[in-house]
Amino acid sequence: MLGCGVVGTEVVRLLTQQADDLAARVGAPLELVGVAVRNVDAPRDPVVDRALLTADADELVTRADIVVELMGGEEPARNLLLRAIEHGASVVTANKALLAQDGPTLYRAADEAGVDVYYEAAVAGAIPIVRPIRESLTGDKIRRVLGIVNGTTNYVLDRMATDGLELEDAVKEAQGLGYAEADPTADVEGYDAAAKAAILASLAFHTRVHLDDVYREGITSVTASDVAWAARTGHAVKLLAIAEATDDGVSVRVHPALVPLDHPLAGVRGAFNAVFVEAEAAGELMFYGRGAGGAPTASAVLGDVVSAARHRVLGGKSPEESTYADLPLLPHASA
Ligand code: HSE
Repeated sequence: MLGCGVVGTEVVRLLTQQADDLAARVGAPLELVGVAVRNVDAPRDPVVDRALLTADADELVTRADIVVELMGGEEPARNLLLRAIEHGASVVTANKALLAQDGPTLYRAADEAGVDVYYEAAVAGAIPIVRPIRESLTGDKIRRVLGIVNGTTNYVLDRMATDGLELEDAVKEAQGLGYAEADPTADVEGYDAAAKAAILASLAFHTRVHLDDVYREGITSVTASDVAWAARTGHAVKLLAIAEATDDGVSVRVHPALVPLDHPLAGVRGAFNAVFVEAEAAGELMFYGRGAGGAPTASAVLGDVVSAARHRVLGGKSPEESTYADLPLLPHASA
């Protein structure tokens, strides 16, 4: 594992506490061989075994079958992941900025090495959205994706609406809750949402959308009185990530929008996220849940780790699937 902040610590906790269940699902034990951190002496949650800590990330990535990158930022994450891929590791990353800037370099390297890149945790935390768009909806034609994909700004706008807080005070509250990026400018100026929009648009429209292709406007010019005026006219102000097919191609943008109160996205409160998908055959779908925070994001990371491990051990088939007919009946089912 590369990086051990809020999300990384929860990943270690789940790996440790659920070791037996995960081994059964994978068909082999998952062993955490090392955790690369900047400062090995920094205070940490006791769930993280200090003997696993190393400052030598370059060396660590050469001796793992699966590398989980939770450092964020472009470098050194990109070089470490490329090095891991060269050494034949599968990689799991929550790094939306890196994927939106340079995902194709990683995907190409992985193709050449015959390994996979997993990134469910990069968009909307715990909400399964990457796989549903990439796999479940790939036979359909997606017309539009509308997402509330940044928990911090949704929390801030919600507090402005419910208690009339001004932006700065609401941002301070959100920072205290641990949802904001290290530099909250990434949240309030829409960079975080724009990176997620680029990833979603690339998947939904089977094309390559770079972060620079995304029109971006954050929430810094929204005032408490704007939000109050919106409510009086039957709207909620939401920072939306929008990707839609147009006559000329694909339009991808992030900006504050007036959402009618009877639209399901208007009811997304606090730090929750939601992605509303309009597809030709499926119609309207909404994916909703916790988009930020340690445990919710760790859930998505662990799902990717189990998928990557299964793929390496069993070619993707789960041990449960392979013995489906032999699974025990639940007690109430046999009563
Ligand atoms: N800062 C992000 C948010 C964290 O508030 O949604 C999840 O990417």
